[in-house]
Amino acid sequence: MNNILVIGGTGFLGTAIVRELARRPASAECRFTLPTRRRERAKHLLVLPTANVVEADVHDPETLARLMAGQDAVISLVGILKGGEGEPYGKGFARAHVELPRRIAAAAKAAGVRRVLHVSALKAAADAPSGYLRSKAAGEAALRDAGLDLTVFRPSVIFGRGDSFLTLFAGLARVVPLFPLAGADARFQPVWVEDVAAVVADSLTRPESIGIAYDLCGPRQFSLRQLVRAAAAWSGHPRIVIGLPEAVAWLQAWAMEFVPNGPMTRDNIRSMRVASVCDAGCTLPFGRSATALEVVAPTYLRG
Ligand SMILES: NC(=O)c1ccc[n+]([C@@H]2O[C@H](COP(=O)([O-])OP(=O)(O)OC[C@H]3O[C@@H](n4cnc5c(N)ncnc54)[C@H](OP(=O)(O)O)[C@@H]3O)[C@@H](O)[C@H]2O)c1
Repeated sequence: MNNILVIGGTGFLGTAIVRELARRPASAECRFTLPTRRRERAKHLLVLPTANVVEADVHDPETLARLMAGQDAVISLVGILKGGEGEPYGKGFARAHVELPRRIAAAAKAAGVRRVLHVSALKAAADAPSGYLRSKAAGEAALRDAGLDLTVFRPSVIFGRGDSFLTLFAGLARVVPLFPLAGADARFQPVWVEDVAAVVADSLTRPESIGIAYDLCGPRQFSLRQLVRAAAAWSGHPRIVIGLPEAVAWLQAWAMEFVPNGPMTRDNIRSMRVASVCDAGCTLPFGRSATALEVVAPTYLRG
């Protein structure tokens, strides 16, 4: 494989995937095209000699067709956590999680790019309680229906240096005396970003992964309460966590929807009603074993 288009490749996971592929001898010569809405957000990738960061609107079919020309594979990573309210999902989710994968599928078919890797989310389902999870399922379906050589990845929450989950709570612990927490009993099975990146990179050279959707989890399940407590403690600011009753949590999330960059929405609360854990325990594909949260997270949350 010589040319890979990584849509959504400038973010947390995309950066790890591109770095992982770039250091593998098998893909050392590979050229990565990384579209972004704002080039300055992708500064960290400009140092990679094989990465070509381009400012582009991937929602525009003509732009997408241009980006797709001459590629050997496409990795689809665009995802948002706040997509608004609505049935079957808010407009933001419809655009980023459903219409974009549909456009990617059409552009890939037209350009003859057969190999597509797509990152969805654990417990994505058409009947899931949140617009986030329903739209993720619809995006998967749009790509599957296109008849491409598709592999789907469904991670639980991803941790690692630069994550926006544990780092957020560690940062908040520095300034708040205690945590009033929505969804405190929600369950997660966090998986390390480097493990996810390695699995995605592996699948590029494994034809047996075509047609498969892999659930990706770490070794242990945690409640949100345990994760917040641990993130605060590892940052050097241990804090008490108080679980909010559902009605108060709902009101808090609704109020936060009016705050720019507010940390919670009502849709996030609905997502947390489904345990984001792997039903088959913890198994990473391709013989890989998952790295424990407590080994890695303290190293980047400290200080
Ligand atoms: N992080 C997790 O815990 C987690 C867990 C499960 C699943 N996932 C899924 O994994 C994928 C990658 O997540 P991540 O954590 O790496 O996300 P991220 O850091 O927020 O990166 C998102 C990427 O998508 C692009 N993007 C975002 N909104 C867009 C829009 N409306 N139009 C076009 N591009 C847009 C961003 O590009 P620019 O800003 O450069 O334009 C960026 O490259 C997502 O699909 C996410 O749903 C993540």
